[in-house]
Amino acid sequence: MKKDVYITKSEKETISLGAEFAERLTLGDVVSFTGDLGAGKTEFIKGICLNFKVQEIVSSPTFTIMNLYNGERKNDDISIYHLDLYRLNSTNELAEIGFDECVYDEKSIKLIEWAEKAGTKLDKVDYKIVIHLNDEDEDYRTIEIFNLKENENN
Ligand SMILES: Nc1ncnc2c1ncn2[C@@H]1O[C@H](COP(=O)(O)OP(=O)(O)OP(=O)(O)O)[C@@H](O)[C@H]1O
Ligand SMILES: [Mg+2]
Repeated sequence: MKKDVYITKSEKETISLGAEFAERLTLGDVVSFTGDLGAGKTEFIKGICLNFKVQEIVSSPTFTIMNLYNGERKNDDISIYHLDLYRLNSTNELAEIGFDECVYDEKSIKLIEWAEKAGTKLDKVDYKIVIHLNDEDEDYRTIEIFNLKENENN
């Protein structure tokens, strides 16, 4: 598994990192996000969406659990699902929101905050993003990007 580690010093830098990371994404990819409340998962996702020229407001879909944005790349329309499982009470609720249909959809990109809440129900992850807060500076974040696709080639 390939792992890259970055340090960002502001919200803006995290958005830029997300936009840069988006270049790696291809249709069907699932990206999981792990990190405490306020870590910067949604900011990173804003950067990804910026790269895909999403016009809708990108925010944590806390109550709806799932947002769908219309993105584009090289004039092709690209659907981006933004999920936030923080308020998921039980993995049984995943069926109600059409989780499997979303995760296995090969024609869209899927970004999942609090992905760990899905437990073993989430068995397809292509990139895992882990964001750590910093004790010394409230604006510093350590961001780990795991490329799980590389496993397939090793
Ligand atoms: N380096 C940084 N990167 C990202 N956000 C930062 C950074 N420094 C400060 N912040 C602030 O931290 C907050 C991150 O909020 P964000 O909504 O992205 O967190 P989250 O991980 O999605 O939280 P939640 O689990 O509640 O959805 C924002 O208020 C942002 O301004
Ligand atoms: Mg969020």
